[in-house]
Amino acid sequence: MIGKFITLEGMDGAGKSTHIPNIIALLQAQGHEVVSTREPGGTPLGERLRDLLLHETMHVETETLLMFAARREHIANVIAPALARGAYVLSDRFTDATYAYQHGAKGVDIKKIEALENWVHEDLQPNVTLLFDVPVEVSMRRLASARQPDKFERESHEFFHKIRQAYLLRAALNPSRYRVIDANQPLEVVNKSVETIIATL
Ligand code: TYD
Repeated sequence: MIGKFITLEGMDGAGKSTHIPNIIALLQAQGHEVVSTREPGGTPLGERLRDLLLHETMHVETETLLMFAARREHIANVIAPALARGAYVLSDRFTDATYAYQHGAKGVDIKKIEALENWVHEDLQPNVTLLFDVPVEVSMRRLASARQPDKFERESHEFFHKIRQAYLLRAALNPSRYRVIDANQPLEVVNKSVETIIATL
């Protein structure tokens, strides 16, 4: 038995976290065991790495390597075993985020990220990736009113623009895996799009 691997992506402030409880409930209603997790993080070691990644200043390649170190642990201890027993794994971010943030916004050579991706999860890709897409202004406005920003959330308009473009390019290059959701709509409308996608899984 093989489960399904579903990932959620989008800029900070795109609102993906809001939808997680609903997505879990929808999948459970279909009768699936759901494992909800996140990156960076998802394991005790991964959560310690997350704390460093979100709050310490470091070289962008160090950051990239730590993202993949946390991911290696996450796949070995959480994602792969869950999929093997037939569960549906819902991860708040995965490798697409490294392409968007570390390559798209911060300029790490894409070949280095591809090499790490091949090393860490050559045979594993999400079955479906939901990209919550909003204009940069909307994301920045939501963040400004929401909470204490972490390291990534303190970045400039230009940085967020690059992230959005990188995600949209990933979506265009992987059309069978990506579902792009216009998240700049009333919550009920976004919910409806999410429900439609989950119903077809
Ligand atoms: P996020 O998922 O937005 O969580 P929260 O909503 O709790 O703040 O925060 C994780 C941050 O880590 C986000 O700004 C994106 C960043 N990130 C990367 O830069 N690269 C990656 O590979 C991953 C997984 C996350």
